[in-house]
Amino acid sequence: MRYSSNTNLFYFFILITLSIVTSCSQRTPMDLNKGNIIPKPRSINATGSSFVLNAETQIYVDNAETQNFNSQYLSKEINKLVGLRLENISGKNTPESGAIILSVAVNDSQLGDEGYQLSITEDLINLTANGPQGVFRGIQTLLQLLPASLQEKVEIATGTIIDSPEYGYRGSMLDVARHFFDVSSIKRYIDFLVYYKMNVLHLHLTDDQGWRIEIKSWPKLAEYGGLTEVGGGKGGFISQREYIEIVKYAAERYILIIPEIDMPGHTQAALASYPELTCEGQARMVASIEEMSIEFPGLYTGTEVGFSTLCTDQEMTYKIINDVIQELAAITPGPYIHIGGDESHSTKKEDYIYFMERAQAIVTSHGKKSLGWDEIAQTNLEQGTVVQFWDSEENVAIAVSKGAQLLMSPAKKAYLDMQYDSTSRIGLHWAAYIEVDDGYNWDPSIYVPNVPKESIFGIEAPLWAETTEDMDDIEYLAFPRLPGYAEIGWTPLSDRNWDDYKVRLAAHGERFRAMEIDYYPSDRVPWKTD
Ligand code: ACM
Repeated sequence: MRYSSNTNLFYFFILITLSIVTSCSQRTPMDLNKGNIIPKPRSINATGSSFVLNAETQIYVDNAETQNFNSQYLSKEINKLVGLRLENISGKNTPESGAIILSVAVNDSQLGDEGYQLSITEDLINLTANGPQGVFRGIQTLLQLLPASLQEKVEIATGTIIDSPEYGYRGSMLDVARHFFDVSSIKRYIDFLVYYKMNVLHLHLTDDQGWRIEIKSWPKLAEYGGLTEVGGGKGGFISQREYIEIVKYAAERYILIIPEIDMPGHTQAALASYPELTCEGQARMVASIEEMSIEFPGLYTGTEVGFSTLCTDQEMTYKIINDVIQELAAITPGPYIHIGGDESHSTKKEDYIYFMERAQAIVTSHGKKSLGWDEIAQTNLEQGTVVQFWDSEENVAIAVSKGAQLLMSPAKKAYLDMQYDSTSRIGLHWAAYIEVDDGYNWDPSIYVPNVPKESIFGIEAPLWAETTEDMDDIEYLAFPRLPGYAEIGWTPLSDRNWDDYKVRLAAHGERFRAMEIDYYPSDRVPWKTD
């Protein structure tokens, strides 16, 4: 009896030990096609097993100099998601198992600057691209394949993803003028773009309600022009030091910053700060008088448009604009400065054309190219000026006839500040109500008839801030629509359809919650509730 019970105990321990050993090495069959990746990759070849990520997994880079940021970024994001702290290594000896290898060794013209190949076996994860930017985009795919929160066992489905974007410009615009948003809010917004492989943040820095960027040669623009915002609350502005910090944060994540100084309309804050910019010697108060600030003469806190204009026929205006563009160009490494040009209803047409042509020449003289809202198509365009379609198909036709590139931001489809429906707690609806499926179901290449695909520069989803007072408001309007615009820009039209997309988007609800994103839970998306 005693002997037999000891034997039983012996066999029991053998069994337990065996089952622990096998369960550690056992791979859960997993399907890479069910990774719910947004934007949808070009090709996925699933092999049905899994890679187990654990505390021993190392992140190896073949080029410590160019890939240091990628490597550190990946370990930080993995830590945020699943709590593991992975070691970062580099050197000559490429690991043969138990590692994530980030490599820039390939030379594959099909992948371009942003494409990547992600190969996951039971032993190894190999992420390769032509350069660190492609690796960085691939890292976003890898992160989406991880669980959205802490798990006992972290497994990643095996297979190969080969991926590259349809359009080279995939952006969003954040209006920090109507309501002011500071550096930390802008960085959080950049993180959202990064996560969905977008690559441009256009910052709308000036408008009637506020001038938000420090200009050292004309300090009152920001110091006075930035004092308030829509509704009369406290405004603010970004110092040049902070702007440089934003540009650096964005550049590390392969996001281009495009600053916008809107002119000659949308300029009440500038006119109030420097009466030299007006023809009358003081800012006119032609907007509704109750919405002019009592505390700060000339500053506007309402949401009407089209009442302000710079004085276009005096040299002083061009001196100030030149100084502004010069300072901005000096701290903007990217090739573009956006010069607005929309809704200048108080500027005579011939004055508008004269002004916008001079503004473009100023931008060129500082080594940059201009971007302008679609009205700019009515002017003589400088070589390289990009026209941003938001409203007028007539302007699109003119732009195409002049050989210009078109950035597609149709207000009826791509404006993130439009309400989802009549019950949306914030947002406007002058262009349309844009439910999540409406925002997804269009394509830049066919939205305006008779525009050749070669003329399409890319896609941008602007978020105007008349009704957004804080980051929760931004998140409510951006999510869950922003990932859809990212997919429109990345994935060819032939590979996209709403029924497939909405299931993948639903799976991202858990990620939104993990990132504390205050998203709108549209009933068109089959969210999975916990
Ligand atoms: C715009 O929405 N005024 C470009």
